[in-house]
Amino acid sequence: MTEEGGFRIDGLLPKKKRSHNVVIKMDKIWKSFKIGSRRVKVLKNIDLSIYSGEFAIIFGPSGCGKSTLLHTMLGLERPDKGRVFLRGKSLYRMREDKRSYWRREKVGMVFQQSNWIKALTVLENVSYPLLLVESDKKKIRDRALEMLKWVGMDWTADKKPTELSGGEQQRVALARALVTDPSVIFCDEPTGNLDSKNGKNLMKILINLNRGEERKVVVMVTHDGAFLPFANRRIYMQDGKVTKEERG
Ligand SMILES: Nc1ncnc2c1ncn2[C@@H]1O[C@H](COP(=O)(O)OP(=O)(O)OP(=O)(O)O)[C@@H](O)[C@H]1O
Ligand SMILES: [Mg+2]
Repeated sequence: MTEEGGFRIDGLLPKKKRSHNVVIKMDKIWKSFKIGSRRVKVLKNIDLSIYSGEFAIIFGPSGCGKSTLLHTMLGLERPDKGRVFLRGKSLYRMREDKRSYWRREKVGMVFQQSNWIKALTVLENVSYPLLLVESDKKKIRDRALEMLKWVGMDWTADKKPTELSGGEQQRVALARALVTDPSVIFCDEPTGNLDSKNGKNLMKILINLNRGEERKVVVMVTHDGAFLPFANRRIYMQDGKVTKEERG
C-alpha cells in the first residue's frame, strides 16, 4: 500500500508502438435467449474486432447486451449465428478442451458478480487458476501473493473473500484474473461497487497493465461514462447493436 492508503502504482512506462494485430474478431454475431415462451434477441448482427495494445471500453445502458457480448467473446456463450475468431481461429469450432485452455491460460476475467469459492481463503482463491497449470506449491503461493501485493491486498491473504468490502473484493478478483499472466484481461463492470476514488484507483491498475511493459489487452464493460476517457478505444452499444466506435 502507498502512504495515502491507495494502491502501489508503478509509474506509467513509455508507450511502445501500437501494432494492429487482430486479437479477437466477431463476425455478424446474433444471440437470443428464450425467456418463457418468448425468444428475446440480445445481440443483433455484431461486427467487432479487438486489436493488440488496446484498452477498449464497451459502453452502454443496463440490459443492452454488454455482458452477453463479453461472454460470447470469451467462448462461454455460443452465438446463434456468426463466428468469433481468436487470433484467426474460429473459437466455437475449436474443441472444448482447446477453448477452455485459452480461457484458463490466455485470458483473465473479472466477472460482474464475483464467484468466490466461499470455503477457501483469499490466497487460495487467487491461487486456484494456477492449480491447473502449475504443480509446485511454493511457486503457486509466491505468485498468488505477488499478485495480491500488486493490487495492495496481500494483507487479506488469510481472510475469506466474503469478509471483504465490495471494492476490496474487486481488487482481489483482479489479482485472481492476473495470476496466470494472461495477455488479455476482460472486466465486466469492475468499478460497479466502488466509490469514485476506488473506481479511479482500479482504473489506474488497468491502465498500467495496458501501458506497462507487457501491454496487455484490456476489454472493459461499463455503463458509467466517467471512465470513457481512460480508454483508447470506445465501443458504444445500444439495444444489442454497436452504434458507434471511437479511437484515441
Ligand atoms: N442466460 C440468460 N437467459 C435469459 N436472458 C438473458 C440471459 N443472459 C442475459 N439475458 C437477457 O439479455 C439482456 C441483456 O443482458 P446483459 O446481461 O448482456 O446486459 P448488460 O448490458 O450486461 O446489462 P447490465 O449493465 O445491467 O449488466 C437482458 O434483457 C437479460 O435479461
Ligand atoms: Mg452486465
